[in-house]
Amino acid sequence: MKIGISGINGRVGRVLKGLIVEHPDKYKDINLIVGLARHAASDLSLQVTTDVDEFLAGVDGVIDFSLPDNFVHLAEVNQQKYGKFIVSGTTGLDAAQMDKIQAIAADVPMLHAGNMSLGVNLLCALVQQTSARLGLDYDIEIEETHHRMKRDAPSGTALMLGRAAAAGRDAEHDDVAVYGRNGADAQRQTGEIGYAVKRGGGVIGAHEVSFYGMSEELTLSHNALDRSLFAEGAIFAARWLKDKPAAGLYSMRDALEI
Ligand SMILES: NC(=O)c1ccc[n+]([C@@H]2O[C@H](COP(=O)([O-])OP(=O)(O)OC[C@H]3O[C@@H](n4cnc5c(N)ncnc54)[C@H](OP(=O)(O)O)[C@@H]3O)[C@@H](O)[C@H]2O)c1
Repeated sequence: MKIGISGINGRVGRVLKGLIVEHPDKYKDINLIVGLARHAASDLSLQVTTDVDEFLAGVDGVIDFSLPDNFVHLAEVNQQKYGKFIVSGTTGLDAAQMDKIQAIAADVPMLHAGNMSLGVNLLCALVQQTSARLGLDYDIEIEETHHRMKRDAPSGTALMLGRAAAAGRDAEHDDVAVYGRNGADAQRQTGEIGYAVKRGGGVIGAHEVSFYGMSEELTLSHNALDRSLFAEGAIFAARWLKDKPAAGLYSMRDALEI
C-alpha cells in the first residue's frame, strides 16, 4: 500500500520513516512515497511537501503524527476530495476539533488513538475492569511524565486511561476529571479522577493509574522505552484499516480486538 506520513520531520514521524526505510523485509507491503511537513525538504529517497493536495493525491492512506490543526485540515481536505484512510496518533485536540473528526469519519475510514501501543491499550482494558470492580471506595489518580518538548497536557494517553476508568464506573469522564490541584480549597471529592502532570528531559512517556483505598493501594503502570513502539503500532493500525471498507472512527482497541 502506498503510504504518506504527515508530520514526517517530527519525533515520531522520523522514527516511522526510519523503521520503514531500514526494514524493507518486515515492511515490504508498505510503500512510503511522500511526507507532509511545515518546512519541506525532499531528500533523494523521499518527496516531502507542504501541500496537502499533493500529499494526498497519490497515496492509499496516511499515517499522521503532527499537530491538531494540521490533522483536522488534512482530514477535511481528504473528506472533500480524496477519501483515503487516515491513521492518526496526534493528541491535544479540543472538543470542537474532536467533533469535526467524528463528523468527517462518517464518510471516511479513520483510526485515531492517543496511544498506539499494545501495552497501553491493554492497560486501558485493565483499568476499566479494575475501576468497575473496586468502585467508589477507591480514589483514582493518574500521573504522567513526558519530555520537556511536549505541548499538550494531560497527555492523550492519560486521558484515554481516565476515560477507561470513568467508563468502568459508568461515570461521565468530563464531570469527574480534575486537572491538577492548587490552593486552599482543593480537597478531593468522592468519585473524582485526578490528573497530575510532570514534564522534563527526554522521557518518552510514563503513566500510572493508582487506586487508593483506606487499607490498600493498587497501581497499574506503563513505560514507553522507545518511539518505535508508536510507529509499529501505527503501521499495525494502517494494515488493519486498509481492509476496512466502512467509514467510521475506529480506536486501537478495535484494531487489537481487546
Ligand atoms: N498516539 C501515540 O501513540 C503517540 C505517541 C507519541 C506522540 N504522539 C502525538 O503525536 C504528535 C506528534 O508528536 P511528536 O513527538 O512527533 O511531535 P513533534 O516532534 O513536534 O512533531 C510534529 C510534526 O508535525 C509537523 N507539523 C505541524 N504542523 C504541520 C502542518 N501544518 N503541516 C505539516 N506538518 C506539520 C511539524 O512539522 P515541522 O517539523 O516541519 O514544523 C513537526 O515535525 C503529538 O500530538 C504527540 O502527542 C502520539
